[in-house]
Amino acid sequence: MSSPTDRGRRLLPLLPTNHPLGRQAVTCQYRCGNACSHDAPNTSANAYFGDVVKEVVSRRGMLKAGAVVAAAGAGALAFSGAAAAAPAHAEADLDADLDLRLGRDRDGLNFEPVQPNTLDELVVPKGYQSDVVIRWGDPVLPDAPKFDFGNQTAAAQAKQFGFNNDFCGLVPLPGWDRWLMVSNHEYTSEEFMFSDWDANNPTEEQVKIAWAAHGLSVVQVERDHRTGKLVPSKDRRKYNRRITMTTKFEVRGPAAGSKHLRTSADPSGKVVLGTQNNCAGGVTPWGTILSGEENFNQYFANANQVADATTKARLARYGMSGGATTRKWERFDKRFDLAQEPNEANRFGWIVEVDPLDPTSTPVKHTALGRFKHEGANVIVARDGRVVAYMGDDERFDYMYKFVTDGTYQKGDSKRAREHNKRLLDSGTLYVAKFTGDSPAAEIDGTGKLPSDGEFDGSGEWIPLAHNDKSFVEGFTAEEVYIFTRLAADKVGATKMDRPEDVEPSLKNRRVYAALTNNTDRGKAGKEGATEVAPRLGNKHGHVLELEERRGDNTATTFSWKLLLVCGDPNDPGTYFGGFDKTQVSPISCPDNVAFDSQGNLWISTDGNALKSNDGLFAVPVEGKRRGQVKQFLTVPLGAETCGPVITDDFVLVSVQHPGEIDGASASNPASHWPDGGTSQPRPSVAVVWRKDRRRICG
Ligand code: FEO
Ligand code: CA
Ligand code: CA
Repeated sequence: MSSPTDRGRRLLPLLPTNHPLGRQAVTCQYRCGNACSHDAPNTSANAYFGDVVKEVVSRRGMLKAGAVVAAAGAGALAFSGAAAAAPAHAEADLDADLDLRLGRDRDGLNFEPVQPNTLDELVVPKGYQSDVVIRWGDPVLPDAPKFDFGNQTAAAQAKQFGFNNDFCGLVPLPGWDRWLMVSNHEYTSEEFMFSDWDANNPTEEQVKIAWAAHGLSVVQVERDHRTGKLVPSKDRRKYNRRITMTTKFEVRGPAAGSKHLRTSADPSGKVVLGTQNNCAGGVTPWGTILSGEENFNQYFANANQVADATTKARLARYGMSGGATTRKWERFDKRFDLAQEPNEANRFGWIVEVDPLDPTSTPVKHTALGRFKHEGANVIVARDGRVVAYMGDDERFDYMYKFVTDGTYQKGDSKRAREHNKRLLDSGTLYVAKFTGDSPAAEIDGTGKLPSDGEFDGSGEWIPLAHNDKSFVEGFTAEEVYIFTRLAADKVGATKMDRPEDVEPSLKNRRVYAALTNNTDRGKAGKEGATEVAPRLGNKHGHVLELEERRGDNTATTFSWKLLLVCGDPNDPGTYFGGFDKTQVSPISCPDNVAFDSQGNLWISTDGNALKSNDGLFAVPVEGKRRGQVKQFLTVPLGAETCGPVITDDFVLVSVQHPGEIDGASASNPASHWPDGGTSQPRPSVAVVWRKDRRRICG
């Protein structure tokens, strides 16, 4: 399965796609309900902040101004990461110099980059190998039946690994090299799951299989020291668990029990069955998993039959305005029919928390973290002990958020500490981000050309939306802020972003990195144009933003920011790689999930490569002389998306989501045969990559 960087193989012809991006139309249909084909639901008239030119007065801004002056005589060096560096960077430069002089392979990024390709395999760098950890249909529960593609049942699927795994997280177990691996099963692609799929007439069993194929899996895994592989544990599987569309969730936080969350099946408004479209996520320091319910709107039918104007407008802001759904679940459970149960959709779109270390625990939906198309949530413990969660709302022209807990984190893994920490996300303050550029608006010309100060950068503020039962938004109760968060954020003038996906703090430097995947609507008639934080019109390739909270305090309400990467083909003058020499970087398009290795390097996976290569995983230093040097670590097979990267010192995990999901392909006409080869059906899987010489990847 492992592949050298360049084996001289014939590349498959590039696939035609009628989608504006590299993403296939069939993926859009099943994954996000064709979000890009509909009007972006944010029609609010938030001001174009670029009109207001402000001088950045932060410590970093002043340093940067000095650095630009100092570098003015050095031509192109003015744009280098080193020239724009804060003291932390300068220290890192010294460290990097020392490492270079001592020949130390410290940062783990010395692999030879993989070249763009359209192969139907997982391609990893020379000297590395890969294998599948678990694939769709493999057993999770001890009594799971063997996977039988042609005779799948809902009962079997509920015990097997679900479909289209996205986020992947590892929670360590005591002892050597054992973990609980938690995977999100974001969505089902029925055409690829059933050879007799009839989109107009799904059977009840097929729908129930789909319910069981959504949700999450908890799988105990361990390192096979003979081979170096990561494998599911064969015994001691007491933690293994499936969470599906019928698993009971507890609704917690300030909006639990709200009238907007009550339905005929749940008059309490506190108990929801299932979780949907779980995209990215994060592991908390207390050993739980946070997972984002993203494109939940696509599962709810008949918003067009809802009479009440307020309800209708709220549904529309979340992308619900049509009739029947693609999957037709509404035929088999009336809760998916908004004409009958208009509040059921309000019970999705949350951050959910799962405790994999307690297989009998009831997972939680956290209302305090707001309701939107949550990509995921990643937390950091601030210096004062409070916990801060960073979050993106993955929609064109939607927003970035953070949540700061009232309580403080308790160290240790005692039962008492864990129970305390598992309550932290119940109370705190929810904020939305407003970004201000520091360059004149006239210098942001929409092409990606850098303004005269050499960077897309500026300052920003976190605007409070609500704190427990107190609303800070005029005309909204606190409950309404939490449940209709998008509308509350519209009111306070939040900044429209280009699809904020993963937003993750670095535990090394406390800065926050956000993947802004793309937004081909930027600048279209009636839509917001280029701004310094979203500087390209028709943004096809996306960018990566770096945010530094004031004084490095993650609870602060002001910050500075800069774009670390403006993605695309480095030969395109409208791209930027942290100031690094663009002849020395890998092309990258549509950043989606981010992760860090133990040295603090940023790893980025892509979704929908608009450069017509397969999606992949990339690594980039964020400190020192190599800041911005993007290198491609792997590519995933044809039609697949790279998700859920986990970077340990010894191995890398990636979720290979929707292999073979190519327009025109189906179970009877598969475009991919990964991972099993031959004439097999493609199966979404978790894959592991490690060095053949068994040396550490980093650390
Ligand atoms: Fe499921 Fe935002 O990607
Ligand atoms: Ca600027
Ligand atoms: Ca994603």
